[in-house]
Amino acid sequence: MEIIIQPDPAAASRLAARVIARLVRARPDAVLGLATGSTPLLLYRELIRLHQAGELDFRHVRTFNLDEYIGLAPDHPQSYHSFMWVNLFSHINIDPQNIRIPDGLASDIPAFCERYEDQIRAVGGIDLQVLGIGTDGHVGFNEPTSSLTSRTRIKTLTEQTRRDNARFFGSEANVPHHVITMGVGTVMDARECLLLAFGPAKAAAIAAAVEGPLSAMNPASMLQMHRVVKVFLDEPAATSLQRAAYYRWVYENKPEWQRL
Ligand code: GLP
Repeated sequence: MEIIIQPDPAAASRLAARVIARLVRARPDAVLGLATGSTPLLLYRELIRLHQAGELDFRHVRTFNLDEYIGLAPDHPQSYHSFMWVNLFSHINIDPQNIRIPDGLASDIPAFCERYEDQIRAVGGIDLQVLGIGTDGHVGFNEPTSSLTSRTRIKTLTEQTRRDNARFFGSEANVPHHVITMGVGTVMDARECLLLAFGPAKAAAIAAAVEGPLSAMNPASMLQMHRVVKVFLDEPAATSLQRAAYYRWVYENKPEWQRL
């Protein structure tokens, strides 16, 4: 894991966008795994800026989203379909045919999930997966005690996650209980992962994910087993890390060829 601590979310998001831009320039039909939530908003804004400046072409890029609420139609304002169109897709030149987001209205959920895994495999796997983290350590919607080898499937949200996401729905009562999410194993198959976390509410989950024991109680901790993970933090999200000074030194002293 490479831990990159930046003064604020904007600086961290710019660096993360640079990693994605570099990949897409090297491989115009790259397969990106995308996340929702408030965390990747600045990253998406930066990707949009690069595109609008003529520096990034998404024409051949393929995307798979991590998750979706069950029961929400794609045009529901709180669906992750809507989120992705409002915050990224409608501002870049991606081909709608190349976008995959789990279908919250799928009638046969297990069959849908199996097909989603097949579709990821059919394009040769995900090159780079963007991840946020829940305050309980979830990635995608893999809540604590999720199997660390799980694949795309239905999950039930914890009370904590429903409370955290209530701000988007007006009240907690409106937050769906069930979701479709890529599994931890699905995420682990991506060739590279970028995990972003900002703000003091993420500090404990990040410390457990990065420095804690590998545990299904913090599904993000499974990323310790991944070969290529970059963790982008702002200062408040980094406050509970024991080895922050070491991570800072490593980052500041990277050899020129390794810089972001
Ligand atoms: C959401 C999403 C996750 C996201 C996390 C954190 O429920 N399913 O993909 O990383 O919870 O959300 P936020 O970025 O808004 O803090």
